[in-house]
Amino acid sequence: MNMIIVGAGGHGRVVLDILRQANENKPVGFLDNNAELHGRRIDGLPVLGSIEELPELRKRGITGATIAIGDNGTRRAVGDTIEQNEFKLISAIHPSAQLATTVSLGKGVVIAAGSLVCAHCQIGDYTILNTGCIVDHESMIGTAAHICPGVRLAGHVTVEAGAHVGIGATVTQNIRVGFESIIGAGAVVIRDVAPMTTVVGVPARAIKNAPSPDEFATLLAPSRPDPRDPMHVSTFQ
Ligand SMILES: CC(C)(COP(=O)(O)OP(=O)(O)OC[C@H]1O[C@@H](n2cnc3c(N)ncnc32)[C@H](O)[C@@H]1OP(=O)(O)O)[C@@H](O)C(=O)NCCC(=O)NCCS
Repeated sequence: MNMIIVGAGGHGRVVLDILRQANENKPVGFLDNNAELHGRRIDGLPVLGSIEELPELRKRGITGATIAIGDNGTRRAVGDTIEQNEFKLISAIHPSAQLATTVSLGKGVVIAAGSLVCAHCQIGDYTILNTGCIVDHESMIGTAAHICPGVRLAGHVTVEAGAHVGIGATVTQNIRVGFESIIGAGAVVIRDVAPMTTVVGVPARAIKNAPSPDEFATLLAPSRPDPRDPMHVSTFQ
């Protein structure tokens, strides 16, 4: 299927390489809202314009798309736009990634080189499992989370929607990482992480706490999905 990659930054290059190695679909170009990139070529593919080009591209027979955007919230929103434009969301899975036969995968996921996903894991829509990460048995990753390069999640870990588990972090068994939380690079997480909290260090401790209920309410602009909605917090609750 002829397809485009939405996002022409560094992650876009990684995704293009994954799609070329997987060799199942034909990437024909990038879309990116950064106008400075329009008309340029990236690793041989043109940047065809912004996301507004989707309807025009569909008329030209391009019907698949993969999202290559690092920001978790933007990735989720762009995924919805792609589907509204009746494109098929294509997951990019590197041939060297190893997935147990019992793994359940959402739509529009990116799984980079050398990732290991063990038995009975569930991977939510728009999630990135980045280079060389390990997701051990029965772990659940919510919608649009990012598991960065070299992360190690032990068994029965839950990572809720929109969480960012930073490069090289370790999360011990049975831990719950709250929605839109941030785990710092190299952290070792041994206790549950509250939603919208940033933790760093060994063992991981909070450097930015979750907002109070009042602050939290003001964060919920009408256009923003309500993270208290269970379907947003995690597909798997
Ligand atoms: C956790 C993180 C988001 C914090 O960023 P920030 O909110 O801008 O915080 P700051 O850089 O202002 O640091 C605040 C404090 O936390 C410390 N800190 C920040 N990141 C840390 C980390 N990963 N481990 C230990 N301490 C850390 C800083 O030294 C600083 O301490 P101080 O107040 O004693 O000086 C960021 O440092 C991080 O680790 N990001 C992950 C990056 C990543 O995963 N990249 C891969 C992308 S594929």
